[in-house]
Amino acid sequence: MIEKQKNYDSKQVKQVLITGATSGIGNALFKQFSAQGDAVIACGRNQTELDKLSHLAAQTCRFDITDKQQVKDIAEQIQTLDMLILNAGNCRYIDDAKQFDGELFNDVINTNLVSVGWLLQYLLPKVKKGGQVVIVSSSATLMPFPRSEAYGASKAGLDYLANSLRLDLKKENIAVTLVHPGFIKTPLTDKNDFNMPFLLTSDEAASRIIDAVKKGKKYAHFPKRLTLLLKLFSYLPDCIWQKIVIKEQH
Ligand SMILES: NC(=O)c1ccc[n+]([C@@H]2O[C@H](COP(=O)([O-])OP(=O)(O)OC[C@H]3O[C@@H](n4cnc5c(N)ncnc54)[C@H](OP(=O)(O)O)[C@@H]3O)[C@@H](O)[C@H]2O)c1
Repeated sequence: MIEKQKNYDSKQVKQVLITGATSGIGNALFKQFSAQGDAVIACGRNQTELDKLSHLAAQTCRFDITDKQQVKDIAEQIQTLDMLILNAGNCRYIDDAKQFDGELFNDVINTNLVSVGWLLQYLLPKVKKGGQVVIVSSSATLMPFPRSEAYGASKAGLDYLANSLRLDLKKENIAVTLVHPGFIKTPLTDKNDFNMPFLLTSDEAASRIIDAVKKGKKYAHFPKRLTLLLKLFSYLPDCIWQKIVIKEQH
């Protein structure tokens, strides 16, 4: 449901749509894009949180990204976009791999990956030539972590999708930025019961994403002290990095 529409006159103003603007990284992105004068369409399911954004938002849209019909209905009410930021997602862990929870797996893959198919089907046609698509994946894809079968698989799927999409959208002059955040303090990570090295605030994460999209980067990863370490670990023999990640998680 679209709650609100404002008129922006200036051609300089960018039309930016953010999924998951009601919390965490998406909320920080919403505030920073709004502060620089862009017309931001804030999306989420939580009406109370959307209401809090409505004074700054060009529009607020309440819909479930996993519901194809809801995505289609919202998209019909949106004109053109300069930037489409696909950030909404969830994280749930497989606590007992032997008793594999297929429902949980389905929920995480559906929310983090399949939904992006619906969002691209209905919202990508709204993105102007010269526009940008930003896909928020995770640095968890840099190497396998325990209990992350569902989350890691969903984000690894997003990585491939983003990198493939970039090739196909080049002729449309639409850039694709893939984002690999490290640990960011948000309600999503507040549930984690393990050590989260180099934790950043959601404001710090949003600044890094905005800096990357302004520079037209294909890939943004932060904080580098974590992501570069993970990349390095991933080149080590299995027996070494497996010991490190299992120790870190417990
Ligand atoms: N925090 C981290 O350390 C971290 C690290 C790497 C990657 N990421 C990724 O960054 C993105 C944002 O995470 P976050 O930490 O900011 O999480 P968060 O604070 O929990 O926010 C998640 C956002 O996604 C929205 N959302 C979730 N499921 C949805 C659905 N079915 N339909 C519509 N909206 C939905 C939520 O909206 P409602 O509550 O309004 O439904 C909320 O605004 C996620 O894709 C996450 O995987 C986060």
